[in-house]
Formats: sequence, structure tokens, C-alpha cells
Amino acid sequence: MTRSSRPLVIAPSLLSADFARLGAELAAVEAAGADWLHLDIMDGHFVPNITFGPALVKALRKHSAMPFDAHLMIAPADPYIVAFAEAGCDHIAVHPEAGPHLHRTLQLIRSLGKKAGVVLNPATPVAMVENVLNLTDLIMVMTVNPGFGGQAFLSSQLAKIATLRAMIDASGRDIALEVDGGVAFSTVKEIIDAGADTLVAGTAVFGAPDYAQAIAGLRAAGQWQV
Ligand code: DX5
Ligand code: ZN
Repeated sequence: MTRSSRPLVIAPSLLSADFARLGAELAAVEAAGADWLHLDIMDGHFVPNITFGPALVKALRKHSAMPFDAHLMIAPADPYIVAFAEAGCDHIAVHPEAGPHLHRTLQLIRSLGKKAGVVLNPATPVAMVENVLNLTDLIMVMTVNPGFGGQAFLSSQLAKIATLRAMIDASGRDIALEVDGGVAFSTVKEIIDAGADTLVAGTAVFGAPDYAQAIAGLRAAGQWQV
């Protein structure tokens, strides 16, 4: 097992926040030590759930200095990428299944000055990203099926994380390896041991009574900084 040489990033997912108090939730999680804010964009078509769009992202943007990490679970994604970029997303990640031309989509995201991400569903092979590494700033491994927070971690995806770690290291490229779904005290160490460096955490942070304690606890559970 090879760990990442990048510093650990904790990206709480707003999906598990109190939607009636989003501004306050954003401020609280930033003050609690979050590195990025993960934004789950769902359309009720690509995934069986609906969340929010660029207008909400834009409204939140002026209240935070954190990088906004958008996870687009919408199909098609291409027609909305400019809107999410203009709304203030710093990273825009897409699923290869959400459009016919992943290479073109990543080019579009990069052309807008944003970091481009590829998200791999549990059934999606690593080969989907292999030929676009030169256009990719982050790879996100889904360790649940996308659509809902609070699902159980799929340990079947640990081998995929390790394969991607080796692929990224062999490429010599500066690509974040992010894990999304079921990140918890009980799973974080094996996730980091497999080679991930960026953890999305919905329930594990927003479902906790003390966000700072939750974020610090995730870092400690991974024994990243000891
Ligand atoms: C699921 C989303 C995740 C979700 C994770 O489709 O992509 O980001 O918020 O939630 P937890 O951490 O509760 O599994
Ligand atoms: Zn997500």
C-alpha cells in the first residue's frame, strides 16, 4: 500500500447540512477546519435525487473562502458547466457516463480556469480516466452509489483507489485522489492507506454534534499527521 504524498484534504459535503440554515452551516464548517466545501449537484435523472443548482452556489460563494468542489451528478453536464464556473465553483467534477465526450468536457472546464475532475461510479473502471490524465486535476472514487448521503462504504472500491494511486504516481502528475461516500472514523484509515488524499464527508461531519471535533477526528483516524 502506498499513501499519497499530498496533504490530507477534508471536504465536508453540504448535502448533509441543514438546508434551512445553509449560510450558517457553511460558516460553521469552515471555522471547524474544513479544507474544501463539497457540493453535490443532483438532477433527479442521472441520480434519483434532486439538490440545488448554480444560483445557490453563487449565493454561498460570497460567504466563504474555501475552494468549492462541485460534484455534478447531472446529465447532460456540458450545458451547465459555464454556469457552475461563473457561480464560483473552483473544481468541477463530472461522471464519464454523463456525456458523450469526456475529453471535451474536461477541456471546457480547464478553459474556464477551473480544476477538472472525473468521478468513477462503483461499477466504472479506472480505464475511463486513463487516457485523459493530462486534462485531469482530480479523480473522485465513489464508494457508494451516487444520490444520497449516509450510505454504507463499499470496501470493494479500495482496490480501485490503490490502482489509481499507482497510476497517478506513475504519471508524475499533480492529481488529487478523492473518495466520496461512507467516509467515517471506521473507514478513513483504510481509505488513506489505499492511497487517497482527499476525503468527502457528509454524515461524518454534518451529522456530528461538534464539526471541529469530527474533522479533527477524521484526520486523527487516518493518522495522517501524528
Ligand atoms: C452521494 C454524494 C456524497 C454524499 C456523501 O451521491 O456524492 O458526496 O454527500 O455522504 P456521506 O459522507 O454521508 O456518505
Ligand atoms: Zn459527492
